[in-house]
Amino acid sequence: MEKTSKKKGRTVTRRAFLRGLGGGAAGAALATRIRGQSAGQAGASLPPALARKTITFTVNGKIVSLDVEPRDTLLEVLREKLRLTGAKKTCDRGECGGCTVLIDGQAAYSCLFPAVRAEGKKIITVEGLAEGETLHPVQQAYIEKDGYQCGYCTPGFIMSTVALLGRTPSPSPADIKAGLSGNLCRCGNYVKIHEAVAAASQKMRKA
Ligand code: FES
Ligand code: FES
Repeated sequence: MEKTSKKKGRTVTRRAFLRGLGGGAAGAALATRIRGQSAGQAGASLPPALARKTITFTVNGKIVSLDVEPRDTLLEVLREKLRLTGAKKTCDRGECGGCTVLIDGQAAYSCLFPAVRAEGKKIITVEGLAEGETLHPVQQAYIEKDGYQCGYCTPGFIMSTVALLGRTPSPSPADIKAGLSGNLCRCGNYVKIHEAVAAASQKMRKA
């Protein structure tokens, strides 16, 4: 006797169900083959705007040349291809500043920056600040002033601070607030962070 089941008002026989499964499996196998073929064919016939591109740029003083897709962000290239994981993928949509790096000296959200646009640029990440065993004065100031709690936002804040002190060596409290306004700290450690920026400013002006 044919077994039946009812679901959402539809009656399905067991035989029909199994027949459907067989068709589904065969269909899936066929689809896999077709996808495999079309992926290769698609790669060959992609319009120039969608094709992979080789870009050359400088990261922390080293010249790097690699292939990127138009959809790759600078953050993805730094973290996944170059293994520079200091810049954090936190919101991934330009809201938190965790991914901040310097691009030609300017602080920028690397999660919003298309990797193809890095061609010819000079990128500095938090990994590129120290000289050997000697930390950058900004890094040192963040440590001395307890400018971090969990530390997840810290690389982004440090890069924004380096950019700020590069253009405003002696920032007022308002300058510091404005200069770091693109970075969020979920631990709410802003008072200590601002103290660290002021201390770094002093340290760098004395040096
Ligand atoms: S991860 Fe880029 S702004 Fe948040
Ligand atoms: S120190 Fe934890 S998010 Fe800023």
